[in-house]
Amino acid sequence: MSIEPAAGTAPWIRIADAAGHLGETVEVRGWLTHRRSSGKVQFLVVRDGSGTLQCVAGARDLPASEWEAAAGLGQESSLVVRGSLRADARSPGGVEMGLQALRVVSAAEGFPISPKEHGIDFLMDHRHLWLRSARQQAILRIRAEIVGAFRDFMDGEAFVLVDAPIFTPSACEGTTTLFETSYFGEQAFLTQSGQLYAEAAAMALGRVYCFGPAFRAEKSKTRRHLIEFWMMEPEWAFATLDDIVALEERLLEYTVGRVLDRRAEDLRAVERDVAKLERVRAPFPRIRYDAAVERLHAAGVAFEWGNDFGGTDETVLSEQFDRPLFVTHYPAAVKPFYMEPDPADSRVCLSCDCLAPEGYGEIIGGGQRMESLDLLARRIDEHGLPREAFQWYLDLRRYGSVPHAGFGIGVERTLAWIAGLDHVRETIAFPRMLYRLRP
Ligand code: 4AD
Ligand code: MG
Repeated sequence: MSIEPAAGTAPWIRIADAAGHLGETVEVRGWLTHRRSSGKVQFLVVRDGSGTLQCVAGARDLPASEWEAAAGLGQESSLVVRGSLRADARSPGGVEMGLQALRVVSAAEGFPISPKEHGIDFLMDHRHLWLRSARQQAILRIRAEIVGAFRDFMDGEAFVLVDAPIFTPSACEGTTTLFETSYFGEQAFLTQSGQLYAEAAAMALGRVYCFGPAFRAEKSKTRRHLIEFWMMEPEWAFATLDDIVALEERLLEYTVGRVLDRRAEDLRAVERDVAKLERVRAPFPRIRYDAAVERLHAAGVAFEWGNDFGGTDETVLSEQFDRPLFVTHYPAAVKPFYMEPDPADSRVCLSCDCLAPEGYGEIIGGGQRMESLDLLARRIDEHGLPREAFQWYLDLRRYGSVPHAGFGIGVERTLAWIAGLDHVRETIAFPRMLYRLRP
């Protein structure tokens, strides 16, 4: 791969590390983002995934064949460049390379995504190439940081990672959004949530979390809905609603702080107003569903007690706060079968949703799980779910049932909020959305 012997060898570095190699001759491997020439001098801007580097060559700095090869290069051609690094305040990253050698790995012509504006459908059709843009790279790095933060945080709280299956025989979050598939002739579904399995694991290990993809055949074409998304789901034996609300608060404070700390440059690339993130410090406000309904009425929204909040309702609520908002005690009727009823009022349950500020809406759903075997069996029937598919889940209440609670936090909605994106389609490398399966 490296440039061969005549010119000697030089260490291969990442562009992100260039500032630590000033005055040295190094090699960089990447792709050409753009090129300009004044006839006597050529400027090649190269990216390698870690940053971009401006490379400058006068006609006499390169062998004639390399000089000519450079002059004909199209956007996204792959290349290996070698040269000496010097400080240059005008260059991105503050470093410039004086080119001494260049090897074209593969010349590209007619790359479809140019710096000019493209429509969203065009970009989505070319998602496999769109990922190379500086903005998309920044978003993917922030995503990776959030995922890392979730895992490190949970590990630090002594929760054990236990993966849940993707093929499941039963529904967790309602039967209307199931993706059906065939499992050697038997009906099966893609998982909507690992929660029920995490509950089983919590009865073994006490504190667990699962982290994986979830699938929902939701006919919702909104800026918050994906068909396939990633969710981290802690489950905690002997914990109550208050315990998990406190856990969520610590998780979000940690995650936002870590992204601010480690991904400042990427937040700049996506033009995030970080002052709004810096305000995300505990304690977060906490209200009951009843109070949320009153707030909607006060804001002039026609909302009937007993309904679930829609996207617009959540937007109205979450715009009223500058940090995440916990809404607890939803009507049992709008929540899944497994929610523990409020002992003080059985119309509502010990559930909690967390709504991200700035109008982003729900990023976490969770609550305390039903403890009683009899009531749980009754709820499964009332929800029209097949009792036999849930026998194993009922076993968790037959053998040492305990109060327990947990939640699920969606990676994409959390990322949309933290990065300040207006649609979840940019939050995952290859989004699966209503009517979009490709690329
Ligand atoms: O509120 P949900 O449906 O809760 C559950 O699945 C529970 N079983 C979780 C648990 O308690 N273990 O989903 C939880 C979160 C949402 O708050 C949201 O962040 C994300 O998952 N989510 C989606 N993200 C993108 N597109 C969708 N269609 C989503 N549906 C849920
Ligand atoms: Mg929910």
